[in-house]
Amino acid sequence: MKIHPLLAVGALVLGSLTAAAQTAPKNPTKLVKRSAPPQVALTPPIRPNDRMLSSETPPMGWNSWNFFAGRVTDKDIRAAADQIVATGMKDAGYVYVNIDDTWEGERDADGVLHTNTKFPDMKALADYVHSKGLKLGIYSSPGPKTCAGYAASLDHEAQDAQLYASWGIDYLKYDLCSFIPAVMMKQAPGDKAAQMQLMIAAYAKMDKALKATGRPIVYSLCQYGWDAVWEWGPNAGANLWRTTGDIQPNWQSIYSILNEQAGLAKYAGPGHWNDPDMLEVGNGKLSLAENRMHFSMWAMLAAPLLAGNDLPNMTPEVRAILTNRDVIAIDQDRLGHEATRAYSDGEVDVWTRHLSGGALAIAVLNAGSDRYSTHTCHLSLAKLGLHGPLKGKNLWTGEQVVLTNDMPIEITSHDILLVRVPAPR
Ligand code: GLA
Repeated sequence: MKIHPLLAVGALVLGSLTAAAQTAPKNPTKLVKRSAPPQVALTPPIRPNDRMLSSETPPMGWNSWNFFAGRVTDKDIRAAADQIVATGMKDAGYVYVNIDDTWEGERDADGVLHTNTKFPDMKALADYVHSKGLKLGIYSSPGPKTCAGYAASLDHEAQDAQLYASWGIDYLKYDLCSFIPAVMMKQAPGDKAAQMQLMIAAYAKMDKALKATGRPIVYSLCQYGWDAVWEWGPNAGANLWRTTGDIQPNWQSIYSILNEQAGLAKYAGPGHWNDPDMLEVGNGKLSLAENRMHFSMWAMLAAPLLAGNDLPNMTPEVRAILTNRDVIAIDQDRLGHEATRAYSDGEVDVWTRHLSGGALAIAVLNAGSDRYSTHTCHLSLAKLGLHGPLKGKNLWTGEQVVLTNDMPIEITSHDILLVRVPAPR
């Protein structure tokens, strides 16, 4: 099996940080390392501007990587855009169609980057996506190469940003990768603090280049959640920043990423979001319960909802999950408050999210290891500081529910109960 270059780079770099980000954690909540924010000159702090307004709520759309990886072509992007419209995803709020890594060709004598043969005409592709009422996203790295080894933006930041704007690009995912060995380790060997300053400066540099184009382009940082990116990301111009290593389409990956998010809620808000990575809903061998839990919890986390599945071959069940408007409304709630984990009791985790209008979303998930059995659990309203009975809506069945303290609830392993309570007491 071909090893993704990020893993190879990772093996070289930042010792325990990398190891932690790439392996399944024993105690996921301890996985994310935090270091003191470095002293570097950044662009002015977050302020309402066009770019922020375009990510005032978490960005929604689709990205090519989780299903296509390096195989993605112009045709696949057009088909994804067609399907986003045809399946009702656009009406449900999905807007961005994001090309991930492997679109890049070579630079010419003037340093202008060209696409490779899989993407014959990026401007025409952007026009096509825009003609559907959707927006187009693209991918690069602050290093010399992308994670998959294609040409990236080092020393060509302004030129690349102008190129993206001239094509009509609306979103950039900027992925650290080769910047680590090529710049951080070369220019500041063994000096972690100096390496971090180089990294932050590189992200701030592209932010400046994007802003200089005058085009609103959502700016997505991808550096795997190292170095407390949530503390400096907003001031480096980020609208969102990855908080984790790469997601995989299996329960263990999704559940451990979920647990890594505990404690990060205070960093998210309108225009700047924690990004626990793109959705795997409909990928791999995830059961419907697992897909439901994954989608529900990413909505609870105010995560970007970037589907990553094979849209032309999506099953009706997966489509129903991705277009559940009640769940999407949780994600897109205008308060922008991310959920916090209220408590864990054995195999049951309870998360809550405060919503506009004084409403509350309560998620009860069964993390039991036996994938198909049903467990009875008890939801403690007292632990949530609430009193029953509470009337709410079960967002997966559409039924009205009445929650009382310690009432028994049956939840299949890896499934979730997601309830919206309009007026909790
Ligand atoms: C890294 C990122 C992924 C994807 C690939 C592309 O691994 O974390 O999300 O963008 O690179 O090569």
